[in-house]
Amino acid sequence: MNKPLAGKTAIVTGVSSGIGCATALTLAQAGAAVVLSARRRERLDKLAADITAMGGKALAVAGDAGVEKDIDQLLEQTINWCEGGGDYDIVVVNAGRGLAGGILDSDESKWEELYRVNVLGAARLMRRAARHLVGRMGGDIVVIGSAVGRNISPFSGFYGSSKFAIGALAEALRREVCAHGVRVSLVMPGIVVSEFQEVAGYDEANFGKSVAQFGRLLEPQAIADGIHWLLTLPPHVNVNEIMIRPTGQSFP
Ligand SMILES: NC(=O)c1ccc[n+]([C@@H]2O[C@H](COP(=O)([O-])OP(=O)(O)OC[C@H]3O[C@@H](n4cnc5c(N)ncnc54)[C@H](OP(=O)(O)O)[C@@H]3O)[C@@H](O)[C@H]2O)c1
Repeated sequence: MNKPLAGKTAIVTGVSSGIGCATALTLAQAGAAVVLSARRRERLDKLAADITAMGGKALAVAGDAGVEKDIDQLLEQTINWCEGGGDYDIVVVNAGRGLAGGILDSDESKWEELYRVNVLGAARLMRRAARHLVGRMGGDIVVIGSAVGRNISPFSGFYGSSKFAIGALAEALRREVCAHGVRVSLVMPGIVVSEFQEVAGYDEANFGKSVAQFGRLLEPQAIADGIHWLLTLPPHVNVNEIMIRPTGQSFP
């Protein structure tokens, strides 16, 4: 069967869990060779082995999405891997973390790390990938924002501010590169059940009860399917942004 992303190479960050993992598998099933990035090496190796076992191609590069030299190494290893067989075409800027609480009560000791990964690291990867793709006159940068990056919530105010920033960066970048055939798409998930909640510090008391009214929440696959859809549109069609929420999620 003809696979829509055959011949393409996609870098996906934050693949050791949740949305990134589902996206890497989905893009591999669609025929893309995938470069897998996150800090937990053993999970990357397992995912790479799973993709290879299903007949796909994967390279695992462990690193921190908020550290400049790790971002450079990810791109350098990708190019070396592609050499002779092409180049990279797609970058999914997904790695990130949440933080429970508002400006008054979120854990301030996590603020710096959150911005380092969600904003600065993401922006560094976007800039480097965009420069490269502009040189090739085409490609895709998919940036994972959030519904709280459009509708700020008092229950995740500091985190939400980082997603407002990444949304602005994505649109700014899109305006800079669109004339060069490079598409930039912002994907804003609503509530997706993943390791995100535990890492952010959500529990039954501060999260479970408030979202119970929303009914069934999203699985990471719903976001991966959205990403697959926008990547397989004709190259002259750029879905600039999509918000994907559970049907019952009224806010944010
Ligand atoms: N879940 C939601 O409700 C939701 C809603 C809106 C937006 N989002 C966004 O969607 C993205 C993915 O979230 P998720 O729900 O899939 O969460 P998740 O299950 O916790 O996955 C987060 C991924 O990011 C990686 N990561 C975190 N910090 C990193 C760092 N410093 N360096 C490298 N990798 C790092 C983690 O890998 P390692 O720990 O192995 O490094 C993991 O693979 C995030 O940007 C998040 O803000 C999530």
